Amino acid sequence: MPLRPVNHEQTRMKSAAIRTKFLEFFESRSHRIVPSAPIVNKADPSLMFTNAGMNQFKDFFLGNEVPPNRRIADTQKCLRVSGKHNDLEEVGRDSYHHTMFEMLGNWSVGDYFKQEAIDWAWELLVDVFGVDKERIYITIFEGDTQDGLPADEEAASMWERHLPAERILRFGKKDNFWEMGDTGPCGPCSEIHYDLRDDEIRRQTPGASLVNQDNPLVVEIWNLVFIQFNRLASGRLEALPEKHVDTGMGFERLCMVLQGKSSNYDTDVFTPFIQAIERASGKTYSFSYEPGAKTDIAMRVVADHIRAVAFTIADGQLPSNTGAGYVIRRILRRAVRYYFSFLDIKEPFLHTLIPLLAQTFQTVFPELHAQQDQVATIIKSEESAFLQTLDNGLKRFEILDTTDAVINGKDAFELYDTFGFPIDLTRLLASEKGLKLDERGFEEALRKQKERSRADAKKAVGDWHEVRTGGEVEFVGYDQLEVNLAQILKYRTVEVKGKNEFQLVLNQTPFYAESGGQAGDTGTLRVGNQIVRVIDTQKENNLIIHRVDQLPEDMTAPVTAEVDSLRRQAVSCNHSATHLMHAALHKILGNHAVQKGQDVDDQRIRFDFNHFQKVDAAELIRIEDMVNEKIRANITLEEARDVPIQEAQDAGAMMLFGEKYGDVVRMITFDPSFSRELCGGTHVSSTGEIGLFKIISEGAVAAGVRRIEAVTALQAESFLRGQLNLLDEIKELFKNPQHLVKQVSDLIEENKTLRKEIDGLRTEQAMALKEDLRRQAQQVGPAHLLVAHLPLNDGAALKSLAFQLENEIESAVIVFGAVINDKPQLMIAIDKSLCSSHGLHAGNLVRTLAASHIQGGGGGQPFFATAGGKDSAGLDAALAEAKSLLTEALSK
Ligand code: SER
Repeated sequence: MPLRPVNHEQTRMKSAAIRTKFLEFFESRSHRIVPSAPIVNKADPSLMFTNAGMNQFKDFFLGNEVPPNRRIADTQKCLRVSGKHNDLEEVGRDSYHHTMFEMLGNWSVGDYFKQEAIDWAWELLVDVFGVDKERIYITIFEGDTQDGLPADEEAASMWERHLPAERILRFGKKDNFWEMGDTGPCGPCSEIHYDLRDDEIRRQTPGASLVNQDNPLVVEIWNLVFIQFNRLASGRLEALPEKHVDTGMGFERLCMVLQGKSSNYDTDVFTPFIQAIERASGKTYSFSYEPGAKTDIAMRVVADHIRAVAFTIADGQLPSNTGAGYVIRRILRRAVRYYFSFLDIKEPFLHTLIPLLAQTFQTVFPELHAQQDQVATIIKSEESAFLQTLDNGLKRFEILDTTDAVINGKDAFELYDTFGFPIDLTRLLASEKGLKLDERGFEEALRKQKERSRADAKKAVGDWHEVRTGGEVEFVGYDQLEVNLAQILKYRTVEVKGKNEFQLVLNQTPFYAESGGQAGDTGTLRVGNQIVRVIDTQKENNLIIHRVDQLPEDMTAPVTAEVDSLRRQAVSCNHSATHLMHAALHKILGNHAVQKGQDVDDQRIRFDFNHFQKVDAAELIRIEDMVNEKIRANITLEEARDVPIQEAQDAGAMMLFGEKYGDVVRMITFDPSFSRELCGGTHVSSTGEIGLFKIISEGAVAAGVRRIEAVTALQAESFLRGQLNLLDEIKELFKNPQHLVKQVSDLIEENKTLRKEIDGLRTEQAMALKEDLRRQAQQVGPAHLLVAHLPLNDGAALKSLAFQLENEIESAVIVFGAVINDKPQLMIAIDKSLCSSHGLHAGNLVRTLAASHIQGGGGGQPFFATAGGKDSAGLDAALAEAKSLLTEALSK
């Protein structure tokens, strides 16, 4: 339904200006404007992706961390495709759901509360943006008995100063109590809804009846959450020490309102993309939301999904088979399926939209622009691979068993699961061929699969039990490996696939928690007199969690925490060597060779970086040499903590996309002219400690991404020792020759010559054998029958002999038996004319013989067949029976 533009002066405001205006408004009210956090959420294990603007501030709200400023605003890249907030299946079908969307937000961390949040939201929308205030509806929380929460009458009366009470509506927990996930900060909220319908239609049906009814023209645009609680895993609400404001406005929806459109896709956020898709497909977008408007749906799916896919990859997440990477792969594939099925695009296409996307967001999210070639290459290669799979799926579809004119549920599920066919596509293909689809069978198979994966992923995280309240967690592990008199702050039990695991938080710890690709520390905790093993250390936001093999009996006893120092040293050697290698990659391959991921533990370095071709052997040697030279130079570590980010940037420190950096950072330098990175990991105090650096492999991990694996220190020594031992063993075998390489190549040469000689002798032998066999053929009726047990241990030679003799002997019937690799084999070749004239069938005959004499089976054509078996002792009996059966048949 087309909509007349809303009548106000900002109608034509461009989306970029709308975003700027929002930020300026809050900046002028003392908010600090911060960059969007990466869309992939690496800091919080309870989330895969950033699903709300407040994610990056979770620790501020919980009181675990002090914010740099109590008032903050930004625009945040969000993705709601997994977990509590999941909109994926809606996207494309309606006018206002997206995978990635921008959330404009303003936050107060224990500073202003409801009054300011409400007044400023009103002022910005009505006075600054000039929206029609008659079209605004407000919702407030009506209270909840289960959670023991009263209605938010306070918010209602504050809103009443701006709009009449009949446009303030009350809703329950589902709509007006906002929670980040199953656990975490939460609170009652007040939503601002906007009615975009024509005046005429508005008079017929009041907007109030359409709020929260999924009407595409009466939509929520802004949510003001009054955070006051933490939802615990047990379901209980715990009051937070301070009250906070967390607001989130859907940027694309705001643009729809301000640009007077009836769909987000009709705003300038999306129209350039829809137009590009129209040009590429040669199809026309017709603004339809009918379920059958597949072309339009497909265009919206593509215009939407490219954003989620591109920004996630730009933030460092490659498509893959697990976790966040798998979600991205699924979104990308959904887009491919839609353009493949409904836009008739059969070649990789999404990647061609990257330059436009990068340019559109160049100033607001520059990370895509900076890496656009790389991102496009990765997307293109994913698309090609999936199009190939789709093609294979189509071939599979052609040969499905459809005897009852039905595609059964099992097959439809196979197409879905293995070839990525959505049921829509299978349905379409089925109807094109006049086939029915067993929808129930498909649903059943799908349900079973979901059950299986749920059972696999089962993990129950218990609530924290507080031993001591308050108290910051202090990490001292850069300077010391042991802490005395630490205290346990809290502990919990986590059940993973039926097994209990225990976790502890200390007020002070030397244990490094896994982060930035460096493995967590292991070690021991002495709690009173009890020794508890720390098997790993992990991080949740800023909480350092020790995974322990048992819970201490006395949680209040003083703790001596000691890190396994040898292991830590090995990890640090690897991490420092990784910095040296990263710098060497830049010097040798070029500045594009930026880190894409790393995994460093006490055993090895695994380092992924951008590079478009194989790193050749000569380059690898240069990299290795350069790193070893820096190791020998014994460069002292320069570690600078709490450096303002700008200062670090000015000093040329390497920064990575997809990482969230604070205002102050830690800078690790090994020679200012060589390696300087922002890094939270542990390092050697001078490079000499690394001893030795050795690359052990280089390969591809994705399009344009290479991986080097390397070892250092003791691991490098033991790797080299292993190689030398191997060499020694070989030398020994050759009786320690002076020139080993010559010796080996001579041996290879000699081997070749001998093989040739053997082949020649074998051929001669075979010729002699063949002559002999030819003479053995006996005339039986019209045929020449040859039955023989051959002294050959080579299946191919047996076959070739049979073929040659068949050509040379007129009307030949040949039966050969041989023992090949200790297994009996039978082979029967019958002249084709005899097959028809005498009803002979080599396949049937060989099967019978194998079954009755050599415990085996086989088969083949009427004119040629083979069989294998287990019992070589029966081979002669089989041949004898073959001879008598064939003689009888041929004599007729
Ligand atoms: N966190 C709230 C939401 O996502 C408000 O920002 O809706």
